[in-house]
Amino acid sequence: MKKVFLIWLFLFVSLNADTLSGKKVFETYCWGCHHQTAMAFGPPFNEIAAKRTKAEIEAYIASPKSMYKAFGYKRTVMTQLHLNAKELDLISDYILSYKGKK
Ligand code: HEC
Repeated sequence: MKKVFLIWLFLFVSLNADTLSGKKVFETYCWGCHHQTAMAFGPPFNEIAAKRTKAEIEAYIASPKSMYKAFGYKRTVMTQLHLNAKELDLISDYILSYKGKK
């Protein structure tokens, strides 16, 4: 019985340690240049959420260089990041959660 509890505890702790969230991705990769609702070096998330789809947001993060013209920018200074599919999914949902927020 004790063993079962220990295994359960181990799983619980390791699963939680692994829990990645959109907020965490934001804090790790984007915070220096983007804020949620205030203009920073890059546009705020509420503004992005108001005009882009999830697919567009993911495409931009995956490759600013191939997307900036389509988004109406004359040039891009955003860092080329290398997020995996899970991180892209989480961060795009996180950005879209600011739709309509001030
Ligand atoms: C070095 C600063 C920098 C970092 C780091 C950065 N960005 Fe950007 N981002 C910008 C700037 C500046 C723009 C405006 C266009 C450009 O320069 O590419 C932009 C544009 C964007 C756009 C398109 C905006 C639009 O018009 O819809 C998205 C989406 C975006 N960033 C998401 C992110 C996310 C998500 C992260 C973190 C995973 C991130 N950026 C990290 C600076 C940055």
